[in-house]
Parts: sequence; structure tokens; C-alpha cells
Amino acid sequence: MRTYYCGQLRSEHIGETVTLCGWVDRRRDHGGVIFLDLRDRSGVVQIVSDPQRTPTSYKDAETIRGEYVLRITGRVSQRPSDSLNPNLPTGEIEVYVDHIELLNPVHKLMPFPVSSGHTETVREELRLKYRYLDLRRERMSRNLQLRHQVVKAMRRFLEDECGFIEIETPMLTRSTPEGARDYLVPSRVNAGEWYALPQSPQLFKQLLMVSGLDRYYQLARCFRDEDLRADRQPEFTQLDMEMSFMSQEEILELNESLVCHIFKTVKDIDIPRPFPRLTYAESMSRYGTDRPDTRYGMELVDVSDLVKDSGFKVFSGAISAGGIVKVLPIPGGNNAISNVRIKPGGDLFKEAAEAGAKGLAYIRVKDNGEIDTIGAIKDNLSPEQKQELLSRTGAQSGDLLLFGAGDTATVNKTLDRLRQSVARLLGVIEESKLNLLWVTDFPMFEWNADEKRLEAIHHPFTAPNPEDIDDLKNARAQAYDLVYNGLEIGGGSLRIYQREVQERVFEAIGLSPEEANNKFGFLMEAFEYGTPPHGGIAYGLDRLVMLLASEESIRDVIAFPKTQQARCLLTGAPAPIDPIQLKELHVASTVKPKQA
Ligand code: AMO
Repeated sequence: MRTYYCGQLRSEHIGETVTLCGWVDRRRDHGGVIFLDLRDRSGVVQIVSDPQRTPTSYKDAETIRGEYVLRITGRVSQRPSDSLNPNLPTGEIEVYVDHIELLNPVHKLMPFPVSSGHTETVREELRLKYRYLDLRRERMSRNLQLRHQVVKAMRRFLEDECGFIEIETPMLTRSTPEGARDYLVPSRVNAGEWYALPQSPQLFKQLLMVSGLDRYYQLARCFRDEDLRADRQPEFTQLDMEMSFMSQEEILELNESLVCHIFKTVKDIDIPRPFPRLTYAESMSRYGTDRPDTRYGMELVDVSDLVKDSGFKVFSGAISAGGIVKVLPIPGGNNAISNVRIKPGGDLFKEAAEAGAKGLAYIRVKDNGEIDTIGAIKDNLSPEQKQELLSRTGAQSGDLLLFGAGDTATVNKTLDRLRQSVARLLGVIEESKLNLLWVTDFPMFEWNADEKRLEAIHHPFTAPNPEDIDDLKNARAQAYDLVYNGLEIGGGSLRIYQREVQERVFEAIGLSPEEANNKFGFLMEAFEYGTPPHGGIAYGLDRLVMLLASEESIRDVIAFPKTQQARCLLTGAPAPIDPIQLKELHVASTVKPKQA
């Protein structure tokens, strides 16, 4: 059909007769000379027809319109010096077309322009409805090709350099405990019983280690019925890995090599190793979050001891109730952030309130070094305390200090959100900077106040740190997350591989022996047949590709994503089904049909 992709042609092809296939990106008629930009997934090339040089194609060229599908044959020529296009990889050449074959015209008005020259203003709903056209656009086509390059680099590295083998695990399975709601599938042949779609292949990959397969990986589709955000989809892809007989250190090293290989292959970026590491405790203390963006400073400072006896009740009260007081220091914030923004009604105040803060105390350090506060904080902190606050936080003239006071979790959440918003606001994030770090030593459990029980932070198969085994409830886990510019792109752990440790962890999260046995008896039984020490990790492929593609939403790197309401606008899923199907599945709906 063709001899080259459009985007492949360069000056070395000058003089060759070539056959190309593609879509008409743009057609320009310059009074007697017709230019067609022909596009395929590799790029765009300029096709030229005029009555003198290409009399056989000129008539056909006149009838061609945007997005028609063509096959053309022509001669590659040097462009005249005044029409070279240095912005286009094919910009040195053009193809004088002898023959145009129209493979298929466009019969309808295009819902939006696809041309690469067009700036983007199309509503996402429209793009998702006509996703096949959206994916024809250069940016989206580039994203999907990048995704493929990433997957290819992963496979090559894991298989060829590290001896991993890919093994598929079931989609129709039992609930896996990653903490989200399950997508369920009713069984027709087992009335009243349900499969769950996997939230991850966690249990199967551990069982593959029991089988002695040693190094497993899978590009695994996972399903989680949770509230959607820009970085979450109900169905997403993990690079899932599990390996036996490796220490945490060895697992982290192997994964650093993998990540470096990916960046080198697809972006030609050398990432320095070893990656920085922060313990969970350090990360929470300095950034208020377990996935800090460390491309910029503004580290939080705990000043609880300094203000615990102050007359300012918001501070002293928070501390006597078991909470803390922390400061977010903002260099240059005095001039950049007005009172309107941090007082009730302001955008930053609102941000703090949404995170649970009841107020937002602040101190301004004026350009002349004078300390400026208002209200209770002014009268109830001594000049010495104020000075000490400045020296603790390193505040200089022109800075702003924002305070969080209350229970530890709320203070951290508030100041983490403010830190991120303020960083964006002040433009201090160097977008070109690349920041990868490990967060380690997560606690095993956190308190779930709603359910009044401990809950596994990672998942209940994560091994506790052997040093903490006697105080399991407060133990650190042998778990690690990989954070990329403030986003968690991967997480994993060493696993429990002994029945009695697993039983103790189930007990700690409030699972009775019967429940544990009922849900995970098969795993605990497997542990008794000779299970090797093992551990693993899973990366969010969509998130990783989103960051590599500099996109802000994972929808832009997934071919057919769902909306925030978990809908597919192209196919119309989910959709009502025939009552007969429901009956066959032994399912009755509680939803009343909508009135017409
Ligand atoms: P975890 O639940 O941390 O670990 O998931 C691993 C990675 O998957 C990505 N991710 C998501 N991406 C898009 N949409 C979602 N809804 C979504 N949820 C998670 C994140 C995350 O870091 N079985 C364990 C891994 C292990 O222990 O080996 C697991 O699934 O980038």
C-alpha cells in the first residue's frame, strides 16, 4: 500500500518516488498551486500539485477536502528556500504528487477540527464522545505512542535484563483488599453469588511466589469503584511486579534501575541515583503529606512547644487537646498574598477550611522587618515568642507565615494543601525539574474513626518491620511508595509469608478468625506449604505516562477513558439492560425506572 509513513520523509529521500497513505490535515489553494498536508500517526508532510508539474493529479487535488483518506504517489523534492519549515521534521521537503487515490471521503460535518495546526478549545465531553477523532489529533496520538514506548521499555528491561516473566491473573475473582469498593459481576450459573473484578492482582501474585515462579510481572488492568479525580480512573493499568528472595534494599535498587531505564529510553533523561528517601514520619513532619513535592521548599515547622503556653487560646487549646501547631513559611508572601485571600471568604482561607481548618492565623514580616499581625495572635504572643517564631522558620523581611492549629491530621492536611496552592500561585515550581523519591517506613495501620478500627495503610499482606513486631499496632511496615513531583506513582512492600504473622495482622484490623479464614484462608493455607520470603510493587502506568507526557489528567493518556461520573461517552456505558438478562443473573434492581 505505501512505501513510507508521512512523518518519515527527510532530505535524504529527495528524488525518490514514494507512496503515502493518510488523512488530509489541511488543504490550501494558492491560486494555481494546491498544497495538501497529509497526516498519519507519524506526522505531517506537504504534498504539492500544480497544473504544470503534476498535470495528472491537479484535477483530483481540487476536489480534496480536510480529513479525506488518500493514497498518493509522488516525487520527494527539496522545498524552495523561502518555504522551509524548521518547526516540522519534514519541513525541508515536499512531495510533488502524480497520483491521488481517494480511499474515502468525509460525509459529515466534523464535530471538531482534528488538524494539527488547530489550537485546543474543544470541550472534553465532545472529545470523549468522538474519541476516535480525538485520538486522530497529533497530541493524543503522541500520548498513546509514548504510552506504548513506556510499556515497551518496561517489558524489555524486566524480561531481558532481569528475568521477569509475564503471567496473567484472573479478572473474575474474589474481592481483593486494596481498600476501594469492588466492581461486582453476578454469576449466572451460581445463583446469588458474585465475582469481584480485581482491585489489583495482589493475592495471585503472592501465590505465584509460592509456586516458585520467582519474578513475575504483568501489565494488569485493575478496577476500583471510588470517587474519581484527574489522577484516578475506575479501571486503570498497573505495572505489577512480585519477586522472591530479595531484600527491601534489593527491590528498591532494581526498581530504580527500571525507572531510570524508562526515563532514559523514552525521554533521554539521566536520573541521578540513588533516589532520595524520606521516612513517612519525616515526610509528614516536613511536608504534611506522604507524597511531597520537593521541587520547592516551604517546609513546615512544628512550633507546638513554643506556643503551648501562650495566651492565644487557638494555639494553646489545640496543643492541650493533644494536637499541634505548625507553620507554613512563604518567602515573599507578605506582598504576594493579600489579606483578602487568607481571611474568611478568601480563596486560600476556603482551601484551608475545606481541609478541615477552623481558621487561618498568620504573621506578616514587613519589608522593613517589622512584624505585623492582627487580632488575638497580636496581643497574645510575646515579642520574644514572635522573634523565636521568625528564627525557627527562617522567616525574612517580606515573608508570610501561615499557621495550622488543631489535631495533627487536620493541620498536616491543611498546610499540605496550602503549600501546594501557594507554590502554584507564586510560580515557584520549576516545571522542568524532575523529582523522584521514595517514602519508606509507613506505619502498618491507621485509625479509621468512622469504623472505629485500625486499618492497614498499604494492605494487610504487608510485612511489619521485625524490630516492631512486639508492638504490632504501632509497628512500621516494610512498605515503600515512589513519588514523582508530588504524585504517588507506585507502591509496594515486603509481604508476610508466615501464617501466624498474617493471623496477627488480621486480628489487629478487627477481622475475626472466621472472617479471615473465610476471605483469605486459601492464602494462609498456601503459606504452610513452603512460601519464600517475597515482596513487590505496582506502578500506576496511567499516572506515570501522564507525568511523562506533561498532561494534567490521566484521561489524556488512556485511549478510551471514563468521565468523572464513570461513564464512557462513546459507547454510552453503563447502560440499562434487558430485564431478561437480569432475571438470568438472578438479580433484581431496586432502582425505579425514570418517568418518561
Ligand atoms: P496501590 O493501591 O498503591 O498498590 O496501587 C499502585 C499504584 O496504582 C496507581 N493507582 C491508580 N491509578 C489510577 N486510577 C486509580 N484509581 C488508581 N489507584 C491506584 C497509583 C498507585 O501507586 N497491590 C498493591 C501493590 C503492591 O503492594 O505490590 C497496590 O495495588 O499510582
